[in-house]
Amino acid sequence: STERTLVLIKPDGVERRLTGAILARIEAKGYTVAELKKTEATRAILEEHYEEHQGKPFYEPLVEFMLSGPVVAAVLEGNRVIEGFRSLAGTTDPTTAAPGTIRGDFGRDWGTAVQQNLVHGSDSPESAAREIGIWFS
Ligand code: CMP
Repeated sequence: STERTLVLIKPDGVERRLTGAILARIEAKGYTVAELKKTEATRAILEEHYEEHQGKPFYEPLVEFMLSGPVVAAVLEGNRVIEGFRSLAGTTDPTTAAPGTIRGDFGRDWGTAVQQNLVHGSDSPESAAREIGIWFS
């Protein structure tokens, strides 16, 4: 069924000029880019966005990283796009993400932390609705 999901191209992806390459993969898969903007996160936005990770050891480094430069936020539409985009993105750690995925093909494995994994995609319909509301309100 048709779903919407929230995708972020994180500061490492924008800084490395990978926005076009990442959007090209999304469009090649057949997903519709329904909303798209380049923006700067704020601590308040990230506290909401990463609510479930508050208190975890990687939370502060993750927030600092997400504040280190602009991000590109998008809403994608498509059949089962929530699971489909996460499959396109690959597993969390770019060092071991499968070749053919965004993280596997573009993620660097030297001197980079696991939070520098280029993209974020919502993990459930509930997260997608919540996150779309945070970034596109
Ligand atoms: P994402 O799945 O978009 O949302 C949580 C993010 O936390 C994840 O991407 C990584 O960027 C980051 N992160 C950093 N360290 C970890 C970790 N140990 N486990 C999971 N996520 C981590």
